[in-house]
Amino acid sequence: MKLITTYALAAVALLVFYTGNVLAAGEAFEGRKKCSSCHKSQAKSWGDTAHAKAMESLKPEVKKEAKLKAKLDPAKDYTQDKDCVGCHVDGYGKQGGYTVETPNKYLTGVGCESCHGPGKKYRGDHRKAGQTFEKSGKTTQRKVLAEKGQDFAFEESCNACHMNYEGSPWKGAKPPYTPYTPEVDAKYKFEFDKMVKNEKAMHEHYKLDGAFEGEPKFKYHDEFQASAKVAKKDDKKGKE
Ligand code: HEC
Ligand code: HEC
Ligand code: HEC
Ligand code: HEC
Repeated sequence: MKLITTYALAAVALLVFYTGNVLAAGEAFEGRKKCSSCHKSQAKSWGDTAHAKAMESLKPEVKKEAKLKAKLDPAKDYTQDKDCVGCHVDGYGKQGGYTVETPNKYLTGVGCESCHGPGKKYRGDHRKAGQTFEKSGKTTQRKVLAEKGQDFAFEESCNACHMNYEGSPWKGAKPPYTPYTPEVDAKYKFEFDKMVKNEKAMHEHYKLDGAFEGEPKFKYHDEFQASAKVAKKDDKKGKE
């Protein structure tokens, strides 16, 4: 009996140990400052998109018509409303993400990590891979990044904000819901393949040297790279 208890205790201890490790290894948000210092061209272009200005829309007297249409109060300040901010910032309710109590300007608006995934763990590998590639021409597998939380599919992340409403065909929907549904206006219908190429909302694409290769690779990666712009020389030389 005593032996069984000892084994049971050991099993519990092991379980706690593993769960603890999984939690400790959990991906964390840290804001777009680091990403932007290396990827200046994308950061500059992102700054002009609707996503960058998402917090503006929650301020009073901004987008009055759109608010009336969705039965919202145009005079109200929604910037601290927990039913709203979650989809207008990065990582709300997640480790390292935006909070209403201590708002971080680098997590305000829909930034890099909302689409590319929380970056604290994978961004160090970008620097390493860039240096290795520059020195020896050796490439790094994207798999390494995916294992640390970088997202190469995007669609589920977009859906969590755009498809999150009552009666949505997206299975993950749960409150708080977006007030902007196809029922409010057909223009709010979200079609990933079309939207991911929308120039008002998505940053421009710039040519990569090819430091990363292999799967998972985004399905439009080659298409985007084929028409990508050439970034300025000092790009990707930022601080980690
Ligand atoms: C964290 C939530 C969030 C994520 C993730 C997100 N979006 Fe958005 N998106 C928004 C919000 C909020 C706006 C409205 C910004 C504003 O005008 O205030 C928006 C606006 C847009 C628009 C502009 C619509 C228009 O015509 O004005 C497009 C297109 C779009 N998003 C596409 C995408 C795609 C594609 C993805 C995934 C790759 C994505 N979004 C990920 C929240 C999100
Ligand atoms: C589940 C995510 C989600 C929540 C919660 C949410 N929004 Fe948004 N919001 C979005 C998305 C996605 C868009 C972009 C819709 C589009 O243009 O297709 C958006 C767009 C907007 C816009 C701009 C609409 C336009 O036509 O330009 C305003 C204003 C807005 N939201 C206010 C609010 C307010 C106020 C709340 C809280 C009552 C709120 N949102 C809660 C996801 C959300
Ligand atoms: C609304 C979603 C979204 C946001 C926000 C976003 N990106 Fe992207 N980004 C994408 C998509 C989609 C691609 C295409 C991926 C591919 O081709 O492999 C991409 C590609 C890239 C690339 C590869 C080269 C290129 O230009 O295509 C870099 C680098 C990048 N993003 C950096 C950033 C940085 C830095 C930020 C924040 C300042 C940011 N992204 C914000 C969706 C987003
Ligand atoms: C220390 C600089 C540095 C930081 C910080 C950094 N990156 Fe990168 N990133 C790079 C380099 C170098 C590459 C490889 C570029 C190439 O192949 O030309 C890269 C590649 C990428 C790619 C392309 C991946 C692919 O599929 O080939 C994306 C997307 C990207 N970074 C997004 C981000 C995001 C988002 C952040 C912040 C969370 C970030 N980066 C932080 C230097 C950095």
